[in-house]
Amino acid sequence: SLLVRLYHERVVDHYNNPRNVGSFDKSDPTVGTGLVGAPACGDVMKLQIKVDDVTGKITDACFKTFGCGSAIASSSVATEWVKGRQMEDVVSIKNTEIAKHLSLPPVKLHCSMLAEDAIKAAVKDYEAKRAKLGISAPADV
Ligand code: FES
Ligand code: FES
Repeated sequence: SLLVRLYHERVVDHYNNPRNVGSFDKSDPTVGTGLVGAPACGDVMKLQIKVDDVTGKITDACFKTFGCGSAIASSSVATEWVKGRQMEDVVSIKNTEIAKHLSLPPVKLHCSMLAEDAIKAAVKDYEAKRAKLGISAPADV
């Protein structure tokens, strides 16, 4: 069907035109940075979120990945999925959902694992930063 075709074209597009490649200022208190590595291959992913201090909503996201095409595509999907959602919701995004979305073969599962880990690490970093500044995280309000 047309729908199925469009869907697959969009997934393939994450390989050719990754979304949200870039960096935010790490020292910005509204930014959370997740930096993770894959022990299996040594690839590294940095995923950053920008959070609305009042609502806890992720207003923007970006990534830089030094790794294989599947890791880059997984980061791209991850940034698309976290934008506009609550911090406490995105930590439940599973790598298997990302892998399914991109039709990754089993041998590439660890590439999508990087994206799941990076999302969690970014949220953790944001919360740790807020705690250090003595500001309660929006999710606690
Ligand atoms: Fe882009 Fe689904 S095709 S996130
Ligand atoms: Fe390691 Fe893809 S081969 S992240």
